[in-house]
Amino acid sequence: MTTAVEPRRQREFRFDRADFDFIASLVRQRTGIVLADNKQDMVYGRLTRRLRALNMNSFTDYCALVASPAGQDELIAFTNALTTNLTSFFREGHHYDHLRDEVLPRLAARAASQGRRLRIWSAGSSSGEEAYSAAMILLAALPDAGRWDARILGTDIDSSMVAHATAGLYDAERAARIPDDLRRFIEAVPGRPDKVRMAAALRRMVSFKRLNLLGRWPVKGPFDVIFCRNVAIYFDKPTQARLYTRLGEVLAPGGTLYIGHSEHLGGAGGRFVAHGRTTYSRA
Ligand SMILES: C[S@@+](CC[C@H](N)C(=O)[O-])C[C@H]1O[C@@H](n2cnc3c(N)ncnc32)[C@H](O)[C@@H]1O
Repeated sequence: MTTAVEPRRQREFRFDRADFDFIASLVRQRTGIVLADNKQDMVYGRLTRRLRALNMNSFTDYCALVASPAGQDELIAFTNALTTNLTSFFREGHHYDHLRDEVLPRLAARAASQGRRLRIWSAGSSSGEEAYSAAMILLAALPDAGRWDARILGTDIDSSMVAHATAGLYDAERAARIPDDLRRFIEAVPGRPDKVRMAAALRRMVSFKRLNLLGRWPVKGPFDVIFCRNVAIYFDKPTQARLYTRLGEVLAPGGTLYIGHSEHLGGAGGRFVAHGRTTYSRA
């Protein structure tokens, strides 16, 4: 959700330091996302739409609403407005190569003795491209995947992103990043040349739900693979370390964790073994 920065002098609503501090503190407490001072214009731009939708004319009233029991529903829209959901199919493609070339052959080799169970978690899945990209790799690499108990879970705190991901409908332009040999996993949408849909075989394997990584995790691990990329980058260091520690606890022995290109395991690093660029397994 990117918004053009509105120059301060043309601002439609008064937005002062106290409003920003209140909003930054509330979003940090609810999501872990740290909004630095230079994000004031971004916050103003994104929340102005909420003020208009609610017919409100001041940030002070909006802050009072989200702080009150009557503002519980608005808190969801507030959170959705302040998350950054940038993603794409096959983003940071080296992780998908690693999944195809290293992880899946190992899981296939052990299937005879340990069963054909496979669990992948896309934690902070945004609009779902990460989970569907993994599903395409999986279906292409394991021709008998239909006979596996294979599930891919995508979770995100942003309910509008969970709905988008569940629908599995994308702009055709965005799907141009899907490699030619995997395009059999996308379908045309009748009457909508600008859209593509994820094929039924993918949608059967992938599911999405709303989950706050800071809260309880009602998920069924252990996971053979976890993608948690470009999510912790918005958190402070102690929150990052807590998150990676918890991810290590739901990762299967020998399981793989992929993190984003500018992320670091920090204080949780001792729990993992590095396998090349931003790729780890449980120590
Ligand atoms: C930049 S996107 C990354 C999407 C994808 N993982 C990728 O790398 O392309 C970050 C996502 O993390 C989600 N997020 C932020 N804080 C979260 C939290 N506390 N719990 C769950 N998801 C969160 C946001 O809603 C957003 O969709």
